[in-house]
Amino acid sequence: MSDHVTIVDHPLVQHKLTIMRDQKTPTAVFRQLLREISQLLAYEVTRGLPMTTKTIETPMQQMQAPTLAGKKLALISVLRAGNGLLDGVLELIPSARVGFVGLYRDEETLQPVQYYFKVPEALEDRLVIAVDPMLATGNSSVAAIDLLKRAGATNIRFLCLLAAPEGIKRMKEAHPDVPIVTAAVDAQLNDVGYIVPGLGDAGDRMFGTK
Ligand code: URA
Repeated sequence: MSDHVTIVDHPLVQHKLTIMRDQKTPTAVFRQLLREISQLLAYEVTRGLPMTTKTIETPMQQMQAPTLAGKKLALISVLRAGNGLLDGVLELIPSARVGFVGLYRDEETLQPVQYYFKVPEALEDRLVIAVDPMLATGNSSVAAIDLLKRAGATNIRFLCLLAAPEGIKRMKEAHPDVPIVTAAVDAQLNDVGYIVPGLGDAGDRMFGTK
């Protein structure tokens, strides 16, 4: 896989993902595992953030200690399944600003249509991490990134749980500047746009809907 995509091939991530894929896993366990995995993925998606130093006093002496530089980062959840990833990442980065992008699929054109958009101010000065568990066709992810760029974002990373090769290709064509971090890249999409083997509908699995 190219630099554009990072697969977090860590034993804990892969173990938790296997339990999430299992159709017998109950909603509460699925949600808890998503929270745990999202924190492990957040570790990877925030790699290389700009750092600075500040002067602090330890009980022993003064030191120049490393600290994150720049404006607080922005986490953008692509509704509704994005909220499952958002919760865990926000626990790890509690000072992050949070935004939401709501898109639905027009049943005639099959194109994503925006129904909600609320993002932090000064996106152009922040690292923006867009979160959506399933990168399937890539249509909604590309549309969400389009909207974020239109709102001023220039430094965007995309965090998902599972990706299909079709979605990665689509994202790479539309947004080659947006790196993708995922736990796994599955075989393909089925004829209705679900990732296989996948884990089913992420929103339904995390919220107990059908
Ligand atoms: N969205 C999901 O929730 N699951 C898929 O497999 C594809 C898109």
